[in-house]
Amino acid sequence: MRTEQLVRTFVEFYEERGHRRITGSTLLPPPGDPVLFTTSGMHPLTPYLKGRPHPLGRRLVNVQRCLRTTDLDEVGDTTHLTVFEMLGTWSLGDYEGPASLEWGYELLTEGLGVDPGLLHATVFGGDERTGPDTASLELWQGLGVPVEPTAEDNWWPNGSEGTVGPCGPDSEIFLWSGDGPPQSTPTRDNRWVEVWNHVTMTHHRLGDGSLVPLPQRNVDTGLGLERLASLLQGKPSVFACDLFDPWRRLVPALWELDEPSLRLVCDHLRSAVVILGDGVRPANTGRGYVLRRLVRRVLTALRRDDPSRSIGDLPEELVRHTLDHFRQETREMRPEFVLRMLRKEEDRFGRLLERGRQVLARARFQGPLSEEDFHYLHDTHGLPRELITSLREG
Ligand code: SER
Repeated sequence: MRTEQLVRTFVEFYEERGHRRITGSTLLPPPGDPVLFTTSGMHPLTPYLKGRPHPLGRRLVNVQRCLRTTDLDEVGDTTHLTVFEMLGTWSLGDYEGPASLEWGYELLTEGLGVDPGLLHATVFGGDERTGPDTASLELWQGLGVPVEPTAEDNWWPNGSEGTVGPCGPDSEIFLWSGDGPPQSTPTRDNRWVEVWNHVTMTHHRLGDGSLVPLPQRNVDTGLGLERLASLLQGKPSVFACDLFDPWRRLVPALWELDEPSLRLVCDHLRSAVVILGDGVRPANTGRGYVLRRLVRRVLTALRRDDPSRSIGDLPEELVRHTLDHFRQETREMRPEFVLRMLRKEEDRFGRLLERGRQVLARARFQGPLSEEDFHYLHDTHGLPRELITSLREG
């Protein structure tokens, strides 16, 4: 099943069940939002999860492009992308978590043809603050899907204690990606790949970590499009799904790279195109710096083996394919314009490297560098710490 068909099947399934499609798309969060980029489908919906009535009603569905830089060092493995798409559904104070899970199961097995024997679920097993999610546990047991209760892994958002905002217990659906029959459980075997998270948003977490019940119980689900597409297509990684076909055809023909570097280069360049397509320009702070960092990471990977490699050689077809997929091409946002900006950024990086080499060759910087040196190099010569370190290592 091609990605486009997967998206269509998903959206239609939920529209048939009373959900209205919202046109979430840009990576830029709404004005006033403190985060740099949209990191999940629910992000732009925060006010409605907190109780404000949504103009389209209580059942919503969408396709949202997201950007996560927390996983930057994991890009290159088989499941992480910097820019990815999330298919999402919401119940704003309408149906409950188990109803959402039941539809999820129906869509995966009947709509998308997933073998039910390859599924595993996890549910919230309870902790000192909140009781276990027995309703979801019983739902999975009734459907005959193996289910594992956990505490930390099944509270969203997890892993970031400082996070403020809507939160609650979740139930995650995993698909077996191994060769033989499924084994073990999702927390013990990473061949179980998480594809769909169903969160029952019950609380709002405050800055001091305390939980306040939300005025309504919501359900927020997010399905990683490229992950599911690659599994449905029987591919070993997200980089092998149909969305990356032109990248896998054209990039290795241009630059000879090992597999992890090839993945990094494709991921970061594709992400840079999407960020540019959403109107961000390279800068030394904020969103523009995320873009700049991605381009510099590509250049560092490319030049490691051959300093003459240039982003300027990137075929326009790849930029067009990406802008097309994300529906970003306009009269102003044309592939040649995006390529020109990438080239300009490359030139700038080249000049910075040159300056960096000259400055770092001075006797003063031959030994270990102090914090004061790093500040001086940054403030006077515009050399970021990352770059200084890599120049000294190189
Ligand atoms: N908010 C949840 C997630 O990002 C589900 O959309 O995983």
